[in-house]
Amino acid sequence: MKIPLVDLKAQYLSIKPEIDSAIQEILDNTSFIMGEPVKKFEENLAKFCECKQAIGVSSGSSALFLALKAYGIKEGDEVITVPNSFIATAEAIVQCGAKPVFVDVDEKTMLIDTTKIEEKITPKTKAIIPVHIYGQICDMDPIIEIAKKHNLIILEDAAQAIGAEYKNRKLPIHETAIFSFFPAKNLGAYGDGGAVITHNSEIANKVSKLRDHGRISKYESGIVGYGERLDALQAAILDVKLKHLEEWTSKRRENAFKYNDLLKDVKSIEIPFEESYSKHVYYVYVIRTKKRTELMKYLKEKEIFTGIYYPIPLHIQPALSFLSYKEGDFPVAEKVAKEILSFPVYPELSKIRVDYITDNIINFYKIPIADV
Ligand SMILES: Cc1ncc(COP(=O)(O)O)c(C=O)c1O
Repeated sequence: MKIPLVDLKAQYLSIKPEIDSAIQEILDNTSFIMGEPVKKFEENLAKFCECKQAIGVSSGSSALFLALKAYGIKEGDEVITVPNSFIATAEAIVQCGAKPVFVDVDEKTMLIDTTKIEEKITPKTKAIIPVHIYGQICDMDPIIEIAKKHNLIILEDAAQAIGAEYKNRKLPIHETAIFSFFPAKNLGAYGDGGAVITHNSEIANKVSKLRDHGRISKYESGIVGYGERLDALQAAILDVKLKHLEEWTSKRRENAFKYNDLLKDVKSIEIPFEESYSKHVYYVYVIRTKKRTELMKYLKEKEIFTGIYYPIPLHIQPALSFLSYKEGDFPVAEKVAKEILSFPVYPELSKIRVDYITDNIINFYKIPIADV
C-alpha cells in the first residue's frame, strides 16, 4: 500500500466539479488579476477568521515581508523569532534590513519559549514573530504582555496554522497574522498564495498598497511598492476550498488522535503534545524518536512516506551565517531538529491507512536494534 506524505490529487478529486467550474469561470471572464474573485475570497477569509480585513498576496513569504514593511520594520531594527521555522520567516526580516534574533523553543510544544524572550530584548528590538509551527498556536498571552511592556509589534506567522485556536480565540490572536496557501498547506492553492489578516485597518491599507506597486489609481502610485498580488485564479480556487476547511480540519484532528491512541504505548516515540487550551490543526503530525533515520528508511521500504520539518535550524543555515550564530546556541531547537518526523495526516487519509502506518511503526520497534 503506497502512502504519500500528502495527497493533493485525492483532495482535488473530492471537490472536482466545484473547482473545475470556478476555474472555468475565470477563464471565461479572462479577468486574471485582482478584481471580484480576489475581493470575494478576502471577504470570506476575513469572515472565516472573524477578523476585520484579509489581504490576499502572492505567498506566505511575501505576506511576512509586506506586513513587516507595513509596520515600518527597517534597517537597524531587531526582530525576535524562533530557529525552528521555514527560512521565509527569517528572510522577511533580513529583506527589511533588520536582524533576526532567535529565541529557543519549549521542548514539549516546540513553540517559542516565552520565558526566554525578555532576555533577548534590546533598545533595537521592534517586533516579535511567534511561529505557530505545525498548526499549534504559541502561548500568546505572555507574548502579548511582553510586547505591551516593551512596546513591540507582534506579527504571527500562522503559515501552518489556518483554523487553529488559542483559548477559544481565532487567528490573529493579537492583531495581525499571515497565512501561506502553498499547495500542501491546510488551505492550499494550486500554485503560490498567501494572506495578511489584521484587525488594524491602517496595516491592511498599507499591505494592500504595497502588494500592488503602491497604486492609488491605475496609473498613479503613491509609494514605492511591489508586485505581490494574489492571482484571481488562485483566489477562486481558495474560495471553493475555504468552504471545506472546517471539515478537513476535523478529519486531520481525527487522524492525529487515532495516531496518538495507537502509538501512545510505543516507548521509543514521543507523540505530539497538544496544549489543553489549544486547537491544533495538524498541518503536520510530528513525532520524536532517537531512531529517525532508521524508522524513515524502514517506512519508505513499505512505501510509507514521511517528512522532516525542518532538519536544519535557521541559526545554522548557511544563508544566515552572517548572523554569527553557532551550533549549541539553541540546544532545544537543535535537539528536536534531529528527532522530529512527520507522518501522513491529510484529511483524505483513511483509517485503514492510519492502522497500516502504525502497525508498521510498531513492528519497526519490535526489531532487535542490530537489525535496523
Ligand atoms: C512557518 C512558515 N512561514 C512562512 C512560510 C512561507 O510561505 P510560502 O511558502 O507560501 O511563501 C512557510 C511555508 O512553508 C512556513 O511554513
